Amino acid sequence: MDNERKVPEHIAIIMDGNGRWAKKRMQPRMFGHKAGMKALHETVQAASDMGIGYMSVYAFSTENWKRSADEVGGLMNIAVEYFFKEIEELNQKNVRMLVLGDRSGLPEKVQEAADNAEKSTAANTGLTLNIMLNYGGRDEIIRAFREMAEEEIPADQIDEAAVSAHLYTAGQPDPDIIVRTSGEERISNFMLWQNSYSEFFFVDTLWPDFGEKDLRRIVEEYWKRDRRYGNAK
Ligand code: IPE
Ligand code: IPE
Ligand code: MG
Repeated sequence: MDNERKVPEHIAIIMDGNGRWAKKRMQPRMFGHKAGMKALHETVQAASDMGIGYMSVYAFSTENWKRSADEVGGLMNIAVEYFFKEIEELNQKNVRMLVLGDRSGLPEKVQEAADNAEKSTAANTGLTLNIMLNYGGRDEIIRAFREMAEEEIPADQIDEAAVSAHLYTAGQPDPDIIVRTSGEERISNFMLWQNSYSEFFFVDTLWPDFGEKDLRRIVEEYWKRDRRYGNAK
């Protein structure tokens, strides 16, 4: 197996199950989201310690606006809190944070906090942490094609490399691993272009319970997978 014992370059996570985690405790959904923020903190530290190059985490989808105003507002507040609170730790761990998604659709205070977190961690050379916020895979692909049209790229120069270079993740390797927590087995509009040869892991753990142990277990499972990319071996 060619990927045996190689640290994956890019792990992406659909952080799902916060609401169910809270419900089990007879608490409001925000209680779950707050616990989810702690799980993210631990998972980022672990990914950094493991020497992973890129980690993408799905924090808010282009479809999540359908939720109640209370929940959406609460999630936006949590994002702002996370962006300010984490900077010090991220700098200590040499982690660069990027906030990927449709920025223009976010409340101003979230945009400002995102800009600030990105600027404050821009010089870090360790793990790149992509926080996918107001992110949708289809939206990202449409945006890429619009940009290419605006740049008047000739049709015969629109190839895989050109599309990749116009995505939010331009310049980054595609995810080796996509994890979804909470037992749901669907992609929910996440990294549709980038996931073409990702290895998928659907785990029952609810996101607030996820942490270093789970991440390490998934990487160990990943080492057993045979990535063929269409080749016959
Ligand atoms: C994931 O947890 C966080 C976001 C989508 C923002 P959910 O809020 O989707 O939790 P469940 O799926 O209702 O349990
Ligand atoms: C996907 O989870 C989005 C995030 C984790 C941010 P959802 O909970 O929104 O997905 P569905 O609605 O169950 O597909
Ligand atoms: Mg969910």
